[in-house]
Amino acid sequence: MDFVVEVEAISRPLNINLFCNKKSETSSYDRKIAEIRLVARHPEVYEPCEDSYAIVDALLADRAQLLELQPKLCVEVGSGSGYVITSLALLLNGLDSVHFLATDINQTAAETTSRTLNNHAVKADVVVADLLSGLENRCRGCVDVLLFNPPYVPTPEDEVGVKGITCSWAGGLRGRSVIDRMLRIVNTLMSEKGLFYLVTVSENQPVEICHLMKRAGFASCIAIQRSTEEEVLQVLKFWRQDDEV
Ligand SMILES: C[S@@+](CC[C@H](N)C(=O)[O-])C[C@H]1O[C@@H](n2cnc3c(N)ncnc32)[C@H](O)[C@@H]1O
Repeated sequence: MDFVVEVEAISRPLNINLFCNKKSETSSYDRKIAEIRLVARHPEVYEPCEDSYAIVDALLADRAQLLELQPKLCVEVGSGSGYVITSLALLLNGLDSVHFLATDINQTAAETTSRTLNNHAVKADVVVADLLSGLENRCRGCVDVLLFNPPYVPTPEDEVGVKGITCSWAGGLRGRSVIDRMLRIVNTLMSEKGLFYLVTVSENQPVEICHLMKRAGFASCIAIQRSTEEEVLQVLKFWRQDDEV
């Protein structure tokens, strides 16, 4: 069943689709994602968790669309264990000349991502970077699939960017510190047909994020919403407004 809710702003229509089509585009038979037993681990690196599974589930549900998109450059910011970027590469397996790029601010996480990619025989560039700093020229207007499961937990601002595992979750005021920095660069990175998947929790005010992105020219929907014991998670999906998605 299609489940689409339109939200309207007080002064002008925004047409944000609150929920995407809930129909899954894949059957259980053709699912191919990273194997948990092959995911590398380190005490200072975020292990795949409900949020990581949610973004991979959103990609699985969109597999047909992603294959049709024929992406040339797929980027994950904050790749951690490497579970998500490896899963994306495996589910796009078969497409020609797709380039995968992963960044993480934590050097140990970047090394762990590389190990997970190697364990699955997936080729990707892994770079230690704050978001995509230093890679702007390579990425400008070229990113077809952008993934970010950010540090989203509301914390005091001075915990943001603290070395090691803390920077996996510490998100500052409303958990928006790193998210908002990312939102400011998305427009410059994305290709015309690009899709951006972002994990949020309700404290991050996802509808407000969609409104901000709308002003930058992006339509959006909630691809997945899930409640866990600790949080209500969303995977938001964005695409340029003119595109029919
Ligand atoms: C919630 S974890 C997600 C890890 C992995 N993507 C997953 O879904 O399992 C957030 C990741 O973002 C990284 N990170 C935090 N701030 C960052 C920044 N400014 N630039 C790049 N990576 C960052 C952390 O080191 C961590 O690996």
